[in-house]
Amino acid sequence: MSTPTDREVDPAAVREVHRRFVTGVTVVTAMDGDVPRGLAVNAFCSVSLEPPVVMVCVQTTSSTYPALVRADHLGINILAADQLAVAGVFASKSTDKFAQVDWTPGAHGSPLLAGSAARVEVEIGERLRAATHTVFVGRIVQAEHRDVDPMVYRAGKFFAPTDMTPLSS
Ligand SMILES: Cc1cc2nc3c(=O)[nH]c(=O)nc-3n(C[C@H](O)[C@H](O)[C@H](O)COP(=O)(O)O)c2cc1C
Repeated sequence: MSTPTDREVDPAAVREVHRRFVTGVTVVTAMDGDVPRGLAVNAFCSVSLEPPVVMVCVQTTSSTYPALVRADHLGINILAADQLAVAGVFASKSTDKFAQVDWTPGAHGSPLLAGSAARVEVEIGERLRAATHTVFVGRIVQAEHRDVDPMVYRAGKFFAPTDMTPLSS
């Protein structure tokens, strides 16, 4: 299905486009004073490896957003396939998300979640307003990973990547 112009683009067509894009699931975190804050985010990607720059997009209406605006650093936790409950906690509006998970502060203070497939701390560089969201761009200053399967997200559903068939060697 195609649409005639950008201005008249059908929201349903746009939704179907996004349903065809496969991502992982991250939990983006920051300390707000003494209070850990965080939300589930799949709008995460690498900007460059050298320097190690990444970006995440966060809706400005998120309750975590003010903490991210105030913070120098943020944490990005790439969820493992067995962390569906953790994804549920951070996709929610619960006021005590961190009481429901194991976490520790990273070297730069950002909350890092136990059991994640990978965890980074990012020094925030730019905050770019884009429509309803802000794009946080920053440099990875701390990185670690575990040898476990990451969680996969597509079209509103979560998957374990067990049946992924390699298309090339
Ligand atoms: C798989 C998944 C991916 C999400 N990706 C994003 C995202 O990239 N950016 C965003 O702002 N919200 C995203 N959300 C929605 C937030 O996690 C959700 O609105 C959450 O309740 C916000 O919590 P808060 O208001 O306490 O910060 C995603 C939710 C799910 C389940």
